[in-house]
Amino acid sequence: MFGKFKITTILASLMILVLVASFTIMQPEKEQFFLSDDDELWGVYEKLGKIRFNAVNTSIKGVSAEKGRDIITKGYSAKQDGKGKTAMQSPYFKCTACHNSEKEFDDLSNVSAQSRLDYAVEHDLPFLQGSSFYGLINRKTFYNDDYQKKYGHVPIIKASNTDIRQAIQLCATQCAQGRALDDWEIESIMAYYSSIGLKIKDLNLKPAEKKEIETAINENKDLHQAVHKLEEKYLATSPAHFADHKEYTPITEAEKKDTKSFKNGQLIYERSCLHCHAGKRYSFFALDKSNFSFKNLLSKTKGNKDGSVYKITRHGTWPLAGKKAYMPLYPIEKMSENQLGDLKVYIENMAAGNNLAAK
Ligand code: HEC
Ligand code: HEC
Repeated sequence: MFGKFKITTILASLMILVLVASFTIMQPEKEQFFLSDDDELWGVYEKLGKIRFNAVNTSIKGVSAEKGRDIITKGYSAKQDGKGKTAMQSPYFKCTACHNSEKEFDDLSNVSAQSRLDYAVEHDLPFLQGSSFYGLINRKTFYNDDYQKKYGHVPIIKASNTDIRQAIQLCATQCAQGRALDDWEIESIMAYYSSIGLKIKDLNLKPAEKKEIETAINENKDLHQAVHKLEEKYLATSPAHFADHKEYTPITEAEKKDTKSFKNGQLIYERSCLHCHAGKRYSFFALDKSNFSFKNLLSKTKGNKDGSVYKITRHGTWPLAGKKAYMPLYPIEKMSENQLGDLKVYIENMAAGNNLAAK
């Protein structure tokens, strides 16, 4: 009796052993995950168990990233059913008057106005009042800080703070002063934004940090920490703080020789002001690099008029009846006080015929 039991136990154990062993042999090794530069950040987040926000609703008929890109760059796209073209979104602006679709910073966690300008020069981009659409899909809030403080009483502006689709509609009707977008148009813009979301290479992860993320995914542990590590590498909002305008003070002797300031001011003038004002591209007011333009700007600034360089940058203009193009203000994140000083040094020297860049 006892012996028989022993034999059965040994047999059973052996069988289990064989089973386990064959199972281990048959089971292919779980595929290891490695990060690559072109991985979309959202895809990596999903592997880390995060639920995607700002996801595209593809159930709406006719939605495509291509249509979204066309609305943004051309102001119209193919119609929802693909036959013919839509009406222009705005007679005054394209979204690209005020927004780039490229990355704007080397380090997305340091969004200072000067690093943005340096990056714009290095990559030949305009320097504009609106934040880039690149990585917008990864942002959590919109029209932040002083946009909310100053205009948060307007329902759509308040709603836009946490709702990307409302933010798109708000800008189409208010910033671009155009017609409201249909839901398939908004969703197409979302699809385009999704195609220009942040990628792993944009975050400048160190090798050890990459390893940390890979280990978290492969071993399914410390997922939250890995998410935090990634979130540290960029801002999920575009900060926006307004400044008041300064009064005119005459150029100093030092500023008449300040080549560094002058050159920085020139970059702002070329990459920002001329983007809209050269050849009246997006405005009725023409600016160029003639002595007349600089003298005109200086006289408005001296007179502390609405067109003063200090006032126009800090307050912008408002859409007037029948002439609805307007100039958005620059928050300090889009033009710092130092940069504005540099712009004034440039304009005032140029108005006096003192071109420091030519010396
Ligand atoms: C005349 C200038 C101008 C035009 C034209 C314009 N925008 Fe904007 N937009 C702005 C400014 C200024 C902001 C303020 C917030 C920011 O971008 O930092 C903004 C904000 C946004 C935001 C929220 C961004 C954020 O991170 O807070 C979205 C989305 C947006 N615009 C979409 C569009 C779309 C789509 C179009 C074209 C249909 C458009 N905009 C046209 C100036 C403009
Ligand atoms: C996004 C486009 C855009 C950018 C960038 C821009 N402006 Fe404007 N600006 C406008 C529009 C639109 C108006 C409205 C008046 C008009 O259309 O004539 C305007 C108005 C002005 C006016 C008032 C003109 C008047 O009739 O008195 C001045 C001055 C001015 N801008 C200077 C500047 C300077 C300096 C810069 C660079 C720091 C700049 N603008 C950048 C679009 C822009």
